[in-house]
Amino acid sequence: MSVTNNRRKITIHTFAARKAAGEKITVLTAYDTFTAQLLDRAGIDAVLVGDSAANVVHGHANTLSIGMDVMTAHTAAVARGVSQALVIADMPFLSYQPSVATAVTNAGRFLQAGAEAVKVEGGVEMVETVRRLVECGIPVMGHIGMTPQSINRLGGPRVQGKDEGSRAYLLESAQALEEAGCFALVLELVKRETAAEITRTLKRCATIGIGAGPECDGQVLVINDILGLRPEGFKPKFLREYADLPPIISEAVRRYIDDVKRGDFPSESESY
Ligand code: KIV
Repeated sequence: MSVTNNRRKITIHTFAARKAAGEKITVLTAYDTFTAQLLDRAGIDAVLVGDSAANVVHGHANTLSIGMDVMTAHTAAVARGVSQALVIADMPFLSYQPSVATAVTNAGRFLQAGAEAVKVEGGVEMVETVRRLVECGIPVMGHIGMTPQSINRLGGPRVQGKDEGSRAYLLESAQALEEAGCFALVLELVKRETAAEITRTLKRCATIGIGAGPECDGQVLVINDILGLRPEGFKPKFLREYADLPPIISEAVRRYIDDVKRGDFPSESESY
C-alpha cells in the first residue's frame, strides 16, 4: 500500500527512543483496513487491534467472548491498511493464560497475520510468558491496572493504584515486565501519581496510558469512542471526543431512505 508522507517506519525501538527523548507516543485502536489506513496516513505511531472489538464491533458487554479466529481476521485487515505505524494485536482471553506454549503458538499466529507485536494483560504473573515470547522474537506490550479480561475479579472498571497495596503491586509488576522484555506497557485506569511513578521508574519500557494521567510516555484511546460511536451513557472521565459521527451517519441514512422512496435515487447519471 502506498503512502503519501516521508515518515519513517515505527518500530519498537522508536518507542524506546521517544521515551528517552521525552516525545509522546500516540496509539489508537482499529479493527478494519480502511480505518487503519486513515489512522496511519494521519500519522499515528501505533495501531492496536484491541480486543475491545468485542464491545465496539461485535456488541458484547465485555471482552471475554472474542476469540483467536475473529481477532486474527481483524489483525490481518488492519495490517493490510498500515504501512508506517506499528501494528499491535491484542491477545484475547484464554489465548495466552493456559500455558506458555499456547501463548507462543497464538502470538505466532498474530505475527503471521501481519502484527508486529502482541499485547497481554497481567502483572508479575505474566513474566514467564512475556520472557518466552520475547525469546521467540515476538515483541510484547504489557497491560496492567484495570485489565478488562479480569473485569469479574476486579468487580468493575475501578481505578487501580489508589491504596498502598495496589500501588506496590503495579510498581512491582511494571518493573518485572520491563525486566522480562516488554517494550511498552498499557496503564489502564491507574491513579495519576502511581502512573507517573511507574513512568519515571521504567528505563526502556514506554508507558501508554488510558485513564492514567498526562505523565505517561504516550496515550491510547479506542477509535470508536473518540468519534462518538459509543453506547449511550458510556462517557468515562478520561475520554475526549474529537468528533460526533452518529448524527452525521443518521442524517445520511435518512436522506438515502427519502431519495429511494421518492424515486430520486438512482438518477439518470447513476444508471447504466
Ligand atoms: O482492547 C483495547 O482496546 C485495549 C485498549 C483500551 C488499551 O486494550
